[in-house]
Amino acid sequence: MKCFIEPAERIKGRLTAPADKSVSHRAAIFAAMADEPVLITNYLQADDTLSTLAAIEQLGALVERRSEGLMIRGVGLRNAQPPARPIDVGNAGTLIRILPGWLAGQDGSSFELDGDESIRRRPIDRIAEPLRLMGAGVEASEGRFAPFTVAGARLQGIDYAMPVASAQVKSCVALAALCAEGSTTITEPGASRDHSERLLAQAGVKISRQGNQLTIWPTDELTLPERIAIPSDPSSAAFLITAAVLVPSSRLLIEDCSVNWTRSGFIEIARRMGAVIITDLEQQPEDGVIPQHEPLSDIDVTAGPLKPTTVSPHEVPLAVDELPLVALLACFAEGETRIEGAGELRLKESDRIAAVVAALSALGAQVEATEDGVIVNGHGSLRGGQVDAAGDHRIAMLAVVAGLASQEGVEVVGVEAASISYPTFLEDIAALR
Ligand code: S3P
Repeated sequence: MKCFIEPAERIKGRLTAPADKSVSHRAAIFAAMADEPVLITNYLQADDTLSTLAAIEQLGALVERRSEGLMIRGVGLRNAQPPARPIDVGNAGTLIRILPGWLAGQDGSSFELDGDESIRRRPIDRIAEPLRLMGAGVEASEGRFAPFTVAGARLQGIDYAMPVASAQVKSCVALAALCAEGSTTITEPGASRDHSERLLAQAGVKISRQGNQLTIWPTDELTLPERIAIPSDPSSAAFLITAAVLVPSSRLLIEDCSVNWTRSGFIEIARRMGAVIITDLEQQPEDGVIPQHEPLSDIDVTAGPLKPTTVSPHEVPLAVDELPLVALLACFAEGETRIEGAGELRLKESDRIAAVVAALSALGAQVEATEDGVIVNGHGSLRGGQVDAAGDHRIAMLAVVAGLASQEGVEVVGVEAASISYPTFLEDIAALR
């Protein structure tokens, strides 16, 4: 599907961003692992998170769609049922990397996982390695791609130093640790999103943090709260925030959004570039503290001029999904913006370094790829043109926001990809114009 986005005169109004994709995936998977029913309110109804519901149903969980939310009746920590057909994760990278952590601990059972074309291009060796070290069998296509099989086993706890900061890998190992013998320690090179830790702490799991080192002890069962409320997604909100920063005379209030400190890198970077964003970001907790809930705040955005910046490698995991938006902001600042140490972007739903450079240069920007980042030479405006999202939801939404702020508008090919994480994106944008 194609659509043409006319330049906007302003972005004005208030809205609530959609439910958080990362927390939705985790809440559904963790509820499937629990013995007692869990009611999840505000679950994200998008393609990726619907794949997660289908997956847990295949594993034996019951999902009842009620008016107030989803009632999930799990199968218990060690009782996932091997499905007759492979689990199809669709486009959901988080699902295909986190779920195997649970499956690896199902001693004597095997599970096959597969996904769409994009999933089959994204390596899964980053989870295969620690799961094998713990004792599970992982057989993957060409050694590192989907489709792949996880053979559950009696796992051993390990000390695992992750080569890159990745919340997906950390969460996978943390789930495997629940069924392992002895404790497991995971060391990350830098902080990444911490939703799994928060939920596990709420579920009564013994878990501790020291710096970037997380230790998890095995347990007999997960005792989740009876109700889990999914907060709004700061990554989805970031598209709306960018539109309001870039379109002159805009004023936008995003209500009750998650301001978890491991997700607020984009707001920090945008503010450094001069964006006027008033909100109450969560502060990094003291060492050793694992907060149990997701903090919420309104986010109040006003349009204004921007200056260039350099995004350094340690900031990348805290803004990883929003870096394409930083590149877009940079087109409107005068001078050079650099994003460094972001090689992970090449392994997302598309090669996002190549995709961002292709999209923004098609719109008239001066932008180039480096091996692990992007350099943008901003000129204060963007002409417009055509962008093909090529199945990547964040590139589709980036192109829409670029259209709103451009001089001539943007034709977005494949805009329907937004439904992976934000099905009502175009309606929400229309309501704010
Ligand atoms: C996610 C973690 C990030 C992010 C992805 C969602 C998660 O991936 O890019 O969209 O929910 O854990 P990595 O942790 O692999 O960087």
